[in-house]
Amino acid sequence: MSLPPGFLDELRNRVSISQVVGRKVLWDPRKSNQGKGDMWAPCPFHQEKSASFHVDDRNGYYYCFGCHAKGDALKFIQETENVGFMEAVEILAREAGMPMPARDPQAAQKADRRSELAAVMEEAVRWFRLQLQTGAGQAARDYLAGRKLGQAAQDRFELGYSPDNRQALFHALTGKGIAPDLIVDAGLCARPEGGGEPYDRFRGRIIYPIRDARGRCISLGGRAMDPNARAKYLNGPETELFDKGRSLYNHGPAREACGKGQPLIVCEGYMDVIALVEAGFGGAVAPLGTAVTEDQLRMMWRVHPEPVIALDGDTAGTRAALRVIDLALPLLEAGQGLRFAVLPAGQDPDDLLKSGGAAAMTKVIEGARPMVDLLWQRETEGKVFDSPERKAGLDKSLRAAIKRIADPSIRSHYGDEIKRLREALFGTAPRGGDGFRSDGFRTEGFRSEGFRGEGFGKSGGKAPRAANTTGAARKPQGKPWQQVQVLPQASTRLSALAGSEEGVTEYLGEAMVLAIFVAQPALVMTFESQLETLHLTHRDHQDLRQLLLRLAHQPGRLNREEIEEAAPEEVETLMSLPHVRIAPAVRLAEDPETGRLGLAEAMAKLDAYRIARSEIEHAMRDMEALVDEGVTWRLSQAARAIERAHKGPEAESRQSVKASNGLELDKEELDLSRELFSKIDFSRGGKPRK
Ligand code: UTP
Ligand code: MN
Repeated sequence: MSLPPGFLDELRNRVSISQVVGRKVLWDPRKSNQGKGDMWAPCPFHQEKSASFHVDDRNGYYYCFGCHAKGDALKFIQETENVGFMEAVEILAREAGMPMPARDPQAAQKADRRSELAAVMEEAVRWFRLQLQTGAGQAARDYLAGRKLGQAAQDRFELGYSPDNRQALFHALTGKGIAPDLIVDAGLCARPEGGGEPYDRFRGRIIYPIRDARGRCISLGGRAMDPNARAKYLNGPETELFDKGRSLYNHGPAREACGKGQPLIVCEGYMDVIALVEAGFGGAVAPLGTAVTEDQLRMMWRVHPEPVIALDGDTAGTRAALRVIDLALPLLEAGQGLRFAVLPAGQDPDDLLKSGGAAAMTKVIEGARPMVDLLWQRETEGKVFDSPERKAGLDKSLRAAIKRIADPSIRSHYGDEIKRLREALFGTAPRGGDGFRSDGFRTEGFRSEGFRGEGFGKSGGKAPRAANTTGAARKPQGKPWQQVQVLPQASTRLSALAGSEEGVTEYLGEAMVLAIFVAQPALVMTFESQLETLHLTHRDHQDLRQLLLRLAHQPGRLNREEIEEAAPEEVETLMSLPHVRIAPAVRLAEDPETGRLGLAEAMAKLDAYRIARSEIEHAMRDMEALVDEGVTWRLSQAARAIERAHKGPEAESRQSVKASNGLELDKEELDLSRELFSKIDFSRGGKPRK
């Protein structure tokens, strides 16, 4: 339906978002400033202890620095109440005392139709539940008792019983004046092919009502009590209400439980969900008699960033898991993954809970393995890699799997992990680079870092630590460019190769990227996701990023003045770095094109350093373990990569260059900025060469 112009604005003006949100969260009194309408709380959309969820009353938006949930008051109601947009408008309008405008007849009709079908479903649920209490329901009650399902569980899941009778439900419902067509359209009864009155689809079965996230009954599941029944489980057909692939059993309650910190456990069936919930695992869901679909995966990720797939430890269970992996690979995003909890072979969660109790289940969940492990297992299990051809075959299939990951940051992390596993299997890394990180790594991805919302500037002015990867971390003093001489310990013979100089270089690289964002804040909007996922090692940098992202979500506040006001010291530190001062993208702050180019280059440079460094580290490890001559080759490659990094991304003779973030760069302009970069002697911590 369409609303009259101005209606929504008026609505938003009349309500305070902090009031709307305030009903669902507990404000953090230390971080919040009520007078300014600047409120902070632990996020209601993901589990956390700190308060990264920000609500700004002045502009009417919320934003979570942890899970990036964002929106206005209407969006908040939609998300927390599980309602659609119009329903959210209605709720808010009621609160603001604004009468709703008359409804668009067509949309109203469709909504009416669905509510009508849902009402029929409710009638059926009521009737099935009654049947469970009757004399005819005795066998069903015995069956449930035999499965140790008490009254509380039966009530919670509204279990019912369909008598073994061809038209019992049909007659009960039509007796209440419900039209036969509606009963058929709701999926409760079917018309015989040869014509005649509709008959009940569910006969002689335990009934499990299926509700959508909003609690509306959309279908039913039915379990046969007769072990010889044609189908053990029967689910309702697809209807206007029920789309199998987009529904999850126990969706609404699981969502609520996960909001309170429970893991999301994905199991196979009704009985598993019920057993899990009864054992205290409220975040249990199941697909409905089909393999997990893409839609269902997305639904799960909206409930929890890392669902745990509970697998029967037998081969069929593993096969199901591998299908989920294939489905999930292209969909992976930062902060959204999967884990696999492997149950003892032949047991489902229901069985395990019966034999080992909640403790056994907890143990299985805690031991859940990340997806990359299962991927590795799939490619290697039961195979022997005793020839170069076989090893190459493995590399090929692993590469193909990794390539399917769309998110570059996740892809590179998978590459790393696979590489690690591979080295463990073969003893060495593949020669000549492994090619598992086709994109070059640049980002960290997982949102554990830098988004905790601990307020800006707590570490302000503290010197960043030179990232000495050999572990010889001596506490450095002063600003980073004064720390060049932090020497690695002699215990690692080759550590000089990856000396602390790298840490400084990395600091300077990060600083450059951030400085460009500060100089040209508009770029934050364009490169928001790159900024979000950028791997930043220094606390000040992480804080500064957080500030930039926060301002980006407050209309009109993303500008240099606001940034400086919020973080004067950090900006000063950044902007006074010699290589930053001379960077065109910083100096020509009014030229967005130079900014874009500069940013691409700065990011590419940071990448190149990190790639080179990780290569060196790998080679060092190999060398220390006294392995083959490939090491020297890799070292020389790494040295060349460093050289290239000094020059800028891909210094080869092409006219345009593609940076790792996908930006196409003009060769000539690049050369110009490279010339400037070449004036910086990185080994001296960014002081211009004389
Ligand atoms: P299972 O056969 O593993 O049954 O089917 P279960 O969940 O352990 O059930 P109990 O413990 O024997 O009662 C798992 C899920 O697959 C679907 C159902 O959704 C079931 O919960 N299924 C199974 C069907 O749709 N039809 C069937 O005939 C069997
Ligand atoms: Mn079972």
